[in-house]
Amino acid sequence: MLSTKMQEALNAQINAEYYSSYLYLSMAAHCQAINLEGFAAWLRIQADEEMIHAMKLYDFVLERNGRVTLTAIEAPPTEWATPLAVFEATYAHELEVTRRINKLVDLAIAESDHATNTFLQWFVNEQVEEEASADAVVQKLKLLAGAPGGLFMLDQELGQRPAATPPAPAA
Ligand SMILES: [Fe+2]
Ligand SMILES: [Fe+2]
Repeated sequence: MLSTKMQEALNAQINAEYYSSYLYLSMAAHCQAINLEGFAAWLRIQADEEMIHAMKLYDFVLERNGRVTLTAIEAPPTEWATPLAVFEATYAHELEVTRRINKLVDLAIAESDHATNTFLQWFVNEQVEEEASADAVVQKLKLLAGAPGGLFMLDQELGQRPAATPPAPAA
């Protein structure tokens, strides 16, 4: 059984994951518009992953006999000055998500909700990867410092990212 407070916090995180998805999809549309198709493909997969995160939380709330309540998703920005700005914003956003996940863990611990704490550890680990993958692109973009040849190569590389695979639904 989830406490009202924990349930509200998990519902807020469902909204945050959908916002993440919306943000990355907006970035994908922006990159598509400036002909960086590999960047766009990478971000679109990132957007798919965020929806999978949202549904993981959704299923968990239901499994705990809780109530899912969906709320309005904030509009994301639609333009970024440079490809570097896109990925700096991605990295900054992931740091913010990590902060939110840590707060959820703090709450689960404060409430002695061990099941939620254990469930959230998947997100704690996922954030390590999320921060690292966004930062890796930031570092590469800094390295190539706007050189068109380098940007073209990085676009090719990011376009190779494999599609996100949703986990099998809980039995
Ligand atoms: Fe996420
Ligand atoms: Fe993420």
